Amino acid sequence: MNQLTINGYTMAYRDEGTGEPLLLVHGFPLSGVMWNPQIEEFKRDYRLIVPDLRGLGQSAAGAPTDRFSSVDEYADDLRTLLDTLGLAKVVFVGLSMGGYIAFAFYRRYPERVRALVLCDTRSEADSEETRQNRYKLIEAVRERGAGAAADMNIPKLFAPAAYLDRTDLVAQLAGLIERTHAPGIIAAAGALAERPDSTPDLPHIAVPTLVVVGQYDQITPAEGARKMAQAIPDWQFSLVPHAGHMSNLENPEFFNQAMLTFLKGLK
Ligand code: MLT
Repeated sequence: MNQLTINGYTMAYRDEGTGEPLLLVHGFPLSGVMWNPQIEEFKRDYRLIVPDLRGLGQSAAGAPTDRFSSVDEYADDLRTLLDTLGLAKVVFVGLSMGGYIAFAFYRRYPERVRALVLCDTRSEADSEETRQNRYKLIEAVRERGAGAAADMNIPKLFAPAAYLDRTDLVAQLAGLIERTHAPGIIAAAGALAERPDSTPDLPHIAVPTLVVVGQYDQITPAEGARKMAQAIPDWQFSLVPHAGHMSNLENPEFFNQAMLTFLKGLK
């Protein structure tokens, strides 16, 4: 794990492989560990930059506490990371919260994006109901710690069959969330609740974009992801079978092949 002092805290990130750079941005409230099957597959031909977002994973040290973060703040952290590594442009790959941050990053720094891979994500802001549920989650984490976030999130992350059968994956992600710094979860949940609607940006995305979604995604359902893709001028869409919201982990073979085909097609 590499470390970088960035805007007052220590960001942990992996930097593996050589070749065209891919920035892999994880979902809520996880860490770069969720990209392990992609790192193993792609590091032979690509350079993979895999951060833990501020306050999450191993990037807790010095991260601000007791205030909400924002998708813009995470985007700015990532830009500082790319500047430090001397990377002018990357393929930005974001899953769920990583996708919300991809929209913010593209709004602020379009010249730094070679292409987008938007996985199991949506362009819309939270509905009022979802926002209220986030505030409930924040209260539960304040009272009971990170375990509350694991209890409330884990069942929705997987396809129903995978939740029952893939006890290894379920336990791995539950353990990851339970070990997470509670203030980092609160800061991230607040950022998600208060993120803007990125739907008006879709027709203005001027880079090739692959939208990937698990067939049984319960958080960002496939039909919405397909519509989102179709609003982007240069779009491709891939439906990952036998997978839910964690499509890259539930069906890595299919996910990796879809991403590889897209990357090879970039001119
Ligand atoms: C994620 O995977 O990042 C979250 O499920 C996103 C969300 O709750 O909207």
